[in-house]
Amino acid sequence: MKASDNKATLSFSNGGQSVELPIYKGTLGPDVIDIRKLYAQTGMFTYDPGFMSTASCQSSITYIDGDKGELLYRGYPIEQLATNCDYLETCYLLLNGELPNTAEKEKFTRLVTNHTMVNEQMQFFLRGFRRDAHPMAIMTGLVGALSAFYHDSTDINNPEHRDIAAIRLIAKMPTLVAMAYKYNVGQPYIYPRNDLSYAGNFLHMMFATPCEEYKVSPVLERALDRIFILHADHEQNASTSTVRLCGSSGTNPFAAIAAGVACLWGPAHGGANEAALNMLYDIQKEGGVEKIGEFIKKVKDKNSNVKLMGFGHRVYKNYDPRAKLMQETCNEVLTELGLEKDPLFALAKQLEKIALEDEYFVSRKLYPNVDFYSGIVQRAIGIPVSLFTAVFALARTVGWIAQLNEMIGDPEYKIGRPRQLFEGSPKRDVKPISAR
Ligand code: SDX
Repeated sequence: MKASDNKATLSFSNGGQSVELPIYKGTLGPDVIDIRKLYAQTGMFTYDPGFMSTASCQSSITYIDGDKGELLYRGYPIEQLATNCDYLETCYLLLNGELPNTAEKEKFTRLVTNHTMVNEQMQFFLRGFRRDAHPMAIMTGLVGALSAFYHDSTDINNPEHRDIAAIRLIAKMPTLVAMAYKYNVGQPYIYPRNDLSYAGNFLHMMFATPCEEYKVSPVLERALDRIFILHADHEQNASTSTVRLCGSSGTNPFAAIAAGVACLWGPAHGGANEAALNMLYDIQKEGGVEKIGEFIKKVKDKNSNVKLMGFGHRVYKNYDPRAKLMQETCNEVLTELGLEKDPLFALAKQLEKIALEDEYFVSRKLYPNVDFYSGIVQRAIGIPVSLFTAVFALARTVGWIAQLNEMIGDPEYKIGRPRQLFEGSPKRDVKPISAR
């Protein structure tokens, strides 16, 4: 980061000593005011719950322009990556900073392909769950459990360990998600196949059975690969910040990624795709398109606690570019499957249209985000609603790892340890229970 010749001066109305704070510029986006010395100089903290105005780190991985609705992975627009690259090229880019050439791509693909199996013992973890356990409960357990198997790659400060742990996590997530699904439906696990693409292998592990040949549909394979690209990374979102904070204690990469999986599950974050589809189902059940007005009214009533799931974003105050690409993918897949008249897709498009004409949403700059259409296309592919967030976690693993490795590789990094504004009781003495 580059020091700006602009400075911030903090002065106090009570005549306290004013403080000068340096300002730094990045290559894109807002400048930052460096407050690292603020507490030492003023004895005061800044206060920013939810981190509405706080940059927690410097990063060169992903840039989002919320006003323009722009998303860049290592400088490349998401629209170009989603149409000209595949997910493994995008993984290579996020991890290494550059797109791979042919030889680099072949080597990386071979490396990932050769790490897709999990230790046979992993299947016994699943047996401890009820068959109807939510896949994200299973995934939170399984990903953390990986650290019990790979002691040779748990030293996060060792670059070789970080590299092999990254490959293992990217390679094994599809296998684990498919195992969680097979466990839910009571079917035998399907082993990964080295002759299939990353997305094709996932489809095969999900939908093949030992009883007959499963042919991977190239349209579904391409659609799923694009869904993975769209979910791969997204700056310092809640789960990425969780991974960074967790990893800052020096814990192993598997444990840090498991923390990210747990955070992503929440309906305000990655759990929104499941919640958005259930919301569409509910409106459908109530009567479909003619019930949209009633639903929107409920959303606008603060006491209802009803949100339009898949809408709104902390950063995007314009259309989420991923939502546009996801809608296009929806169109392609539904047309290919002869489901272009899919009532849920029609309902979603109508709901979006009405919301975007409604002052409540327009004034709050609420637009569809990545989660609004992703459920419809995953459902069309045959992925059950309860698995949507696990698929999101599968795709986001590379972003979490890239961000974690960037932090650990930064000589300035320290363990994250925020402070607080204390509003509790001043010091007092314990009374004996007879006097309480
Ligand atoms: C993801 O951070 C990331 O990058 C995340 C993500 C990623 O790739 O990692 O992009 C993935 O998590 C996408 C977001 C998925 N979540 C949802 O779709 C859930 C529904 N959306 C909301 O919960 C909400 O929009 C958030 C959580 C996404 C953002 O919330 P903020 O930034 O804290 O904004 P806010 O809740 O303060 O909302 C501002 C106003 C409020 O109204 P007022 O108090 O001003 O009257 O907008 C309202 C909110 O009530 N509002 C909504 C709404 N989202 C915000 N009202 C109805 N429906 C919604 N969806």
